[in-house]
Amino acid sequence: MNTYAQELRATAKAMIAPGKGILAMDESNHTCHKRFEKLGIDKTVEQRQAYRELLLTTPGLNEYISGAILYDETIRQFTRKEVPFTKVMADSGILIGIKVDTGAKDLAGHHGEKVTEGLDSLRDRIAEYYGMGARFAKWRAVITIGEDIPSWACIEGNAHALARYAALCQEGGLVPIVEPEVLIDGNHSLERCYTVTEETLRTVFDQLFCQKVAFDQMILKPSMVISGLACPIQANVEQVADATVRCLLDNVPASVAGIAFLSGGQSNERASEHLNAMNVKYKSQCPWSITFSYARAIQQPALEHWRGNDANVAAAQQLLLHRAKCNSAASLGQYSAEMEKTPVLV
Ligand code: 13P
Repeated sequence: MNTYAQELRATAKAMIAPGKGILAMDESNHTCHKRFEKLGIDKTVEQRQAYRELLLTTPGLNEYISGAILYDETIRQFTRKEVPFTKVMADSGILIGIKVDTGAKDLAGHHGEKVTEGLDSLRDRIAEYYGMGARFAKWRAVITIGEDIPSWACIEGNAHALARYAALCQEGGLVPIVEPEVLIDGNHSLERCYTVTEETLRTVFDQLFCQKVAFDQMILKPSMVISGLACPIQANVEQVADATVRCLLDNVPASVAGIAFLSGGQSNERASEHLNAMNVKYKSQCPWSITFSYARAIQQPALEHWRGNDANVAAAQQLLLHRAKCNSAASLGQYSAEMEKTPVLV
């Protein structure tokens, strides 16, 4: 048995503690710059540091957030007062997570499809991150829906890499977040998204089983079963909740420690509504707890308000806290539109 098994189970349990979710703030520099550029924020290491400091020093964040996923640059950074970010997190009881994939790259021979890379020297990188205090990791695979895609090559290649990554994480003491994202882009229907998500999840769990990954020591981070952004018929909140939970119940082993959704380009409110609807209707039927691990749908209002200006930090932190609180409520099935009307201190 893995020497870390007990620790991994305890970490996974803490990650999905009732009313808590995970803050994904692990954008690569490239992705971070794309978001900064839209808002006219300087694309510099100083601004990346300032923004991540804003997020991590938000007062009261630990009430709703169990852990935060960092990027390699961020796990090595300090606050302006020279406190390591890892210490800020440890002091507030927020678990340290780390993105360990090195990005989704074009899949050779398969136009329009991606495969996620990062297995080279992963064992050594995991050991380093564990030594820095990280206790969980993330790897994101991307599945695109299009005319004749996804191909089997894309699903199987990504699932294999996810499983190899997850096994290495567990060997090294990090709880793997296994993230197979079926993209929301495109004009596909909810039904098509269901079929692709199902095939993806089945293949991922086949591969995880094959690589001897312990399901009770991992977190699944799936996308929701949802209509493509450009689909003329948009499924409503209840339809998304029904299809998503049915797909998970049919394809995810009951022993998986927990489920934490990505937001995938949904609006802030929609991401909360969907999570809430799943918990209101299905909490008692699901063997796992269902929470959030959002990036855009939790950070966006804070980033838009901050815009790189020190004077906006406190108000931006209130906006982050507000979304964290809304999503925490949604993970308990206690979110309502009323919550959005509560005046936020800005
Ligand atoms: P979004 O919530 O913006 O989809 O991001 C989640 C994430 O971690 C992407 O890998």
